[in-house]
Amino acid sequence: MKRGLPLISIPSLSEKTFNGFREFIYQKTGINMRESKNVLVSNRLRKRVFALNLSSYEDYYLYLTETKEGKKELPYFIDAISTNETYFFRGDNQFDVLQRVILPELFKKKSKLRVWSAGASTGEEPYSISIIIHETARGRWSGDVEIIATDISNEVIEKAREGVYGGRTLRFVPREIRGRYFESVGNESYRVGEKARKGISFRTHNLLVDNPPGKSFDIIFCRNVMIYFDKPTQRHLVDGNFASSIAPDGYLFIGHAESLMGTSKKFRYAQILKTPIYTRVKTRHGEEE
Ligand SMILES: C[S@@+](CC[C@H](N)C(=O)[O-])C[C@H]1O[C@@H](n2cnc3c(N)ncnc32)[C@H](O)[C@@H]1O
Repeated sequence: MKRGLPLISIPSLSEKTFNGFREFIYQKTGINMRESKNVLVSNRLRKRVFALNLSSYEDYYLYLTETKEGKKELPYFIDAISTNETYFFRGDNQFDVLQRVILPELFKKKSKLRVWSAGASTGEEPYSISIIIHETARGRWSGDVEIIATDISNEVIEKAREGVYGGRTLRFVPREIRGRYFESVGNESYRVGEKARKGISFRTHNLLVDNPPGKSFDIIFCRNVMIYFDKPTQRHLVDGNFASSIAPDGYLFIGHAESLMGTSKKFRYAQILKTPIYTRVKTRHGEEE
């Protein structure tokens, strides 16, 4: 493996090495990188090749998979490879349904709400959930809220904990919500205030390897994460960890481009305003399968 001065250019990613990375990505994250994603993978990994002062993708592949240091590199590799796109109140009609239908129903029966935001990225999703719970609860419910936000990437979890945002990610945050739940830190950036942070904890967590971070969740959000997994991996996650950690009357929110039809035997489509929300299937005796 060659090491040397920082390089200006490196040879392009060969098909053989790309296939090696694809297999490795699948093994470690469950992400099914399509054959057409060579350019995307090479663009994302280039900075790691440079950071380690290596001279090719092949060298990086060997470093990652065959050296002792490879283990330490794994989190950086995962940070580089994952798609972390997110923004506040993404999938707005899901937040509408949460506010108008699901929270009023849960407020009637629960004194504590437990939520898991799985694949939370930089934190916009769990903070949006917290804000909507506060907004809906005002004057009508005063229970506790626990939101556990997890992601495979250390880097995004650090940003989520910081909770400072600016620009496009705030584009769907109404002015009065910004006023109530954020504080300006200058430079057109805003820090999420204490009220919306209360009850949220952030953890690094691999959905395919680690146990669920709790149980009896009233709501699980796992949006725009499973889209990168193949069907067997989706089924394993949904009918395994999600089914075992959701409350019997809990709700599972998935992304707009995702579906569990034909994938899950333990969740059924909730049919609320055509939005992708599922509930746990019960047996004829009202018990969980
Ligand atoms: C596109 S973001 C979605 C963020 C947010 N849920 C949303 O819908 O806006 C996908 C996130 O899934 C995370 N992810 C991918 N594979 C994962 C895995 N195996 N375990 C946990 N998180 C994973 C990525 O790191 C990334 O932050």
